[in-house]
Amino acid sequence: MNFFAQTCIFLLSCILLLHSGYRIQALRYDHSATTKCLAEPGRAHYGGGLIINPEFNRGVEGWTVFGQGAIKQGTSKESGNRFIVSHSRREPLDSFSQKTQLENGKFYSFSAWVQISEGSETVAAVFKTSDGKLLYGAKVLAKHGCWSLLKGGLVANFTSSAHIIFKSNNTGVEIWADNVSLQSFTKEQWRSHQDKSIDKVRKQKVRFHITYANKTAMEGGVISIKQIKSGFPFGCGMNHYILTNTDYQDWFASRFKFTTFTNEMKWYSTEKIKGIENYTIPDAMMKFCKKNGISIRGHNIFWDNPKHQPEWVNTLSPEDLKEAAARRINSVTTRYAGKLIHWDVMNENLHFRFYEDNLGNNASAEYYRTAHLLDPQATMFLNEYNTIEFNNDETVNALNYSKKLEEIISYPGNGNMSVGIGLQGHFNSGKPNLPYMRSALDLLGSFGFPIWLTEVDVDKGSPSQAEYFEEILREAYSHPSVNGIISFAGPEAAGFKVMPLTDKDFKNTAAGDVVDKLLREWKSGNDLVVETSAAGNNGFSDISLFHGDYNFTIKHPVTNSSTSISFKVTKDLPRGTVHVQIDA
Ligand SMILES: *[C@@H]1O[C@H](CO)[C@@H](O)[C@H](O)[C@H]1NC(C)=O
Ligand SMILES: *[C@@H]1O[C@H](CO)[C@@H](O)[C@H](O)[C@H]1NC(C)=O
Ligand SMILES: *[C@@H]1O[C@H](CO)[C@@H](O)[C@H](O)[C@H]1NC(C)=O
Ligand SMILES: *[C@@H]1O[C@H](CO)[C@@H](O)[C@H](O)[C@H]1NC(C)=O
Ligand SMILES: *[C@@H]1O[C@H](CO)[C@@H](O)[C@H](O)[C@H]1NC(C)=O
Ligand SMILES: *[C@@H]1O[C@H](CO)[C@@H](O)[C@H](O)[C@H]1NC(C)=O
Ligand SMILES: *[C@@H]1O[C@H](CO)[C@@H](O)[C@H](O)[C@H]1NC(C)=O
Ligand SMILES: *[C@@H]1O[C@H](CO)[C@@H](O)[C@H](O)[C@H]1NC(C)=O
Ligand SMILES: *[C@@H]1O[C@H](CO)[C@@H](O)[C@H](O)[C@H]1NC(C)=O
Ligand SMILES: *[C@@H]1O[C@H](CO)[C@@H](O)[C@H](O)[C@H]1NC(C)=O
Repeated sequence: MNFFAQTCIFLLSCILLLHSGYRIQALRYDHSATTKCLAEPGRAHYGGGLIINPEFNRGVEGWTVFGQGAIKQGTSKESGNRFIVSHSRREPLDSFSQKTQLENGKFYSFSAWVQISEGSETVAAVFKTSDGKLLYGAKVLAKHGCWSLLKGGLVANFTSSAHIIFKSNNTGVEIWADNVSLQSFTKEQWRSHQDKSIDKVRKQKVRFHITYANKTAMEGGVISIKQIKSGFPFGCGMNHYILTNTDYQDWFASRFKFTTFTNEMKWYSTEKIKGIENYTIPDAMMKFCKKNGISIRGHNIFWDNPKHQPEWVNTLSPEDLKEAAARRINSVTTRYAGKLIHWDVMNENLHFRFYEDNLGNNASAEYYRTAHLLDPQATMFLNEYNTIEFNNDETVNALNYSKKLEEIISYPGNGNMSVGIGLQGHFNSGKPNLPYMRSALDLLGSFGFPIWLTEVDVDKGSPSQAEYFEEILREAYSHPSVNGIISFAGPEAAGFKVMPLTDKDFKNTAAGDVVDKLLREWKSGNDLVVETSAAGNNGFSDISLFHGDYNFTIKHPVTNSSTSISFKVTKDLPRGTVHVQIDA
């Protein structure tokens, strides 16, 4: 006899209890961040923070001349808005400046709106420490006629006073600035903000309402909650060793549901000899993934770096290259169409331009269109390094990245393409600059496209490698614009040398411990149990759960018989109520 021949009508009766907004925390994401140059830009973040007179409402009070040249207050003819002007400059660093104190271990978020008196020119925010070191906080291509957001920051690994300076190599232009902000945070404040954000962007409050057929709430029943699958893609790169090493297979399949093949799909791997394609290895890896329910990012169709072409491609004439490349994109994209979640179509096309140089400036945009036509379901990604990991590589900063992105999506035929922002995340061995990483994510997040960290690792050479790796993963996971993370690491036995996650015997390294800790931490515990209540709380039982797939088992208070239901917790179900009616 089945006491629980119940009608599980929870899916139909999911009541959306919309919740009034969240309390604004002291530290926050910049949802108004933009890579656009604006006529009417925004206010100073954090009310300017440590900056004195950040909006220049009191002339240039608190600001001094750095180097030579002079400073004055400027006023907008249209709005009367006041700002600061550095003129008669002779050296790149000649500008207005304010002295501040940097403390070891603190995080500094910086932003300012800048403009120049004519043309367009790069303007950098530089911190000059008392011993003369120059630290770059941010760079932006400033223009005349509109305001650009200069946004970044630094992590101080020393204590020193510092001058904040605005730098432009072109001394013939005036530098203008307004609404300058510098705010400091302790490590604990930064971490606490991440944790609050994780609660908000990765979890959902679920409300159980279990009733009998007569509509009274069940009292004393027990709901056991088991998370079957994470809703957040946190995956790992994979290479061909997986085909022959069963320890690697077990290690991978027991942890990850998302992957990228590190090299096996690349052109230089599938067509080593002109005209002879061999997909044996990637095909076998696809099969392994399918068997284990692992989703795959396609990496990559082309790579714009001239050093990473199949050898024979380097010597082709532009005409022959065009023909060979057409065969390549058709071959690999058709072969795996419908089986991949993403394609990195033209890898690293901000740093490099092999195809542009040979085939013209529209080469990338055209290949995105072709790939989209051949595999319309997959999201087409740009994929670059240094955008979040290094604050001094202008080629790929958020502004330059967004220009390339716009160029590709505005190309005829690409209007309907689903596009993604790929950020490799190969960090060097220094302490990661999380304020800078966050500012880049804020800026790129303004597009509303999915952002994935696609190849995360931290270079060896620092005893803090694992600690830095964890800081980076937490920063990415807590950021509302990030939709997935793939780490390019793995067992030493599979040749992962930069940041092995296990040693030769598959025992975790410190970095491997970080991965396992976070996989556990970002999942609702397996022993979660909620007691159904009748009197208290109007029959509702609340619990906050990570996004993902769940099995809920409800045990009858008297008979002990139980039933299971499957349920998906997603962010699209704000404050969902699971209503289950039990026919007792
Ligand atoms: C600075 O903020 C003020 C509001 O306090 C705003 O009116 C002004 O347009 C902003 N200026 C710039 C350049 O961001
Ligand atoms: C400014 O000049 C320095 C030193 O010559 C150079 O390294 C830097 O790339 C220049 N920056 C820009 C934006 O041209
Ligand atoms: C509703 O049904 C449950 C289970 O059969 C029973 O324990 C409870 O007393 C009933 N409530 C009412 C108001 O009839
Ligand atoms: C294709 O590659 C596989 C794996 O490297 C190899 O065993 C096989 O011989 C190759 N096939 C041909 C036709 O070369
Ligand atoms: C990117 O930045 C570089 C400076 O490093 C500049 O020369 C180039 O024109 C920029 N590209 C775009 C698309 O803005
Ligand atoms: C590149 O594409 C644009 C359209 O986006 C077109 O106007 C232009 O002529 C193309 N350039 C070349 C060299 O094909
Ligand atoms: C985009 O999709 C719409 C609606 O499905 C369709 O009408 C339109 O032709 C598509 N445009 C392109 C460029 O494919
Ligand atoms: C601070 O970090 C930088 C970059 O990682 C490094 O070069 C420098 O030596 C460090 N300074 C101190 C005092 O640790
Ligand atoms: C239900 O389980 C409890 C404790 O596990 C036990 O004491 C009780 O006898 C069980 N009831 C039935 C009907 O099996
Ligand atoms: C989840 O529950 C369903 C029945 O609803 C069951 O078939 C499935 O095996 C359960 N999965 C796990 C992992 O417990």
